[in-house]
Amino acid sequence: MGRKESILLYSIEINSLSKSYGDFIAVDGIDLKVEKGKIFGFLGPNGAGKTTTMKMLTTLIPPSGGKMNILGIDGIKSPLEIRKKIGVVLQQPSYEPTLSVEKSLEKYGMMWNVEKKIRKNRVEELLISFDLADIRKKKNDDLSIGQRRRVQVAREFMHDMELLFLDEPTVGLDPSARRGLLDFIKGKVKDGLTIFFTTHILEEAEYLCDDIAIINKGKIIAVDTPADLKNKFGREKTIKIHVSEQKDMSSLLSGIPDCTVEHDSGTVLTVRSSQSEQVLQEILKILASNHVPVEDLSVVPTSLEEIFLSVVKNSNA
Ligand SMILES: Nc1ncnc2c1ncn2[C@@H]1O[C@H](COP(=O)(O)OP(=O)(O)O)[C@@H](O)[C@H]1O
Ligand SMILES: [Mg+2]
Repeated sequence: MGRKESILLYSIEINSLSKSYGDFIAVDGIDLKVEKGKIFGFLGPNGAGKTTTMKMLTTLIPPSGGKMNILGIDGIKSPLEIRKKIGVVLQQPSYEPTLSVEKSLEKYGMMWNVEKKIRKNRVEELLISFDLADIRKKKNDDLSIGQRRRVQVAREFMHDMELLFLDEPTVGLDPSARRGLLDFIKGKVKDGLTIFFTTHILEEAEYLCDDIAIINKGKIIAVDTPADLKNKFGREKTIKIHVSEQKDMSSLLSGIPDCTVEHDSGTVLTVRSSQSEQVLQEILKILASNHVPVEDLSVVPTSLEEIFLSVVKNSNA
């Protein structure tokens, strides 16, 4: 009575969080804030430190240094308190081979002490929303990798939680199952759930996430909304030019600013630029004054995947 509930703004707040294995620094002093009720994408290439970060946040491994506050709880002091309030789907599969799909869901609900009636309803709901109804009686061992993954994600929704961690949940899913899973997750966030989602696929993060952090070699190299990431890095276009004579085009064009040569076969040249119009004009001028006939040319936006790779590449330089 009279005591004010403090309103939680961030489901995750971490400061200088790090993890070392011997001399090797897997996560190198990262800072992050994840707003409550949002889908946060943690994006990075293989080996970047995504799983290690997730294991620390879910209190499965202790950090080597730094602070973390999960759902308002000190993650170093009270890991068990956190575990009761979160859901975790790890990267490596975990399942009981002889259990059927429906029994797997049922058993998981029992483990979390979900009341029988609610449990039964949720099983039916999840069998439908994860497109598992046709294989409900099948044993886990007889499922495809994608089906098993769907069961593994579905069962996490058997219990109530405030924060869900998903480590590359779409690996092994075909495009339609992948889209189905992403859409299901999107729907759940409307009910106030916060999701921390790792992936190495930028398109996926862009489709699903409100905010994205890019991690590489244990360090965070960008944090932004997908739209801002695209704005910052996505103005870039790829220009492709075919000429009919073998020429050393790279050296002809070397003086043009903001023009990165991607590929030069002598007759086909690919360059990238964030000022493609000026650059294209320059290229055509130089080629014309050197009497190099142009056979064909195209200008296309650089794909998100390439942007992601170039952000990561620049951070390695
Ligand atoms: N238990 C461990 N012992 C030693 N090195 C580890 C251990 N776990 C992870 N690593 C290393 O830490 C780095 C980050 O791994 P991880 O977090 O799994 O990356 P990601 O999930 O982004 O692919 C990798 O170089 C990996 O080999
Ligand atoms: Mg991983």
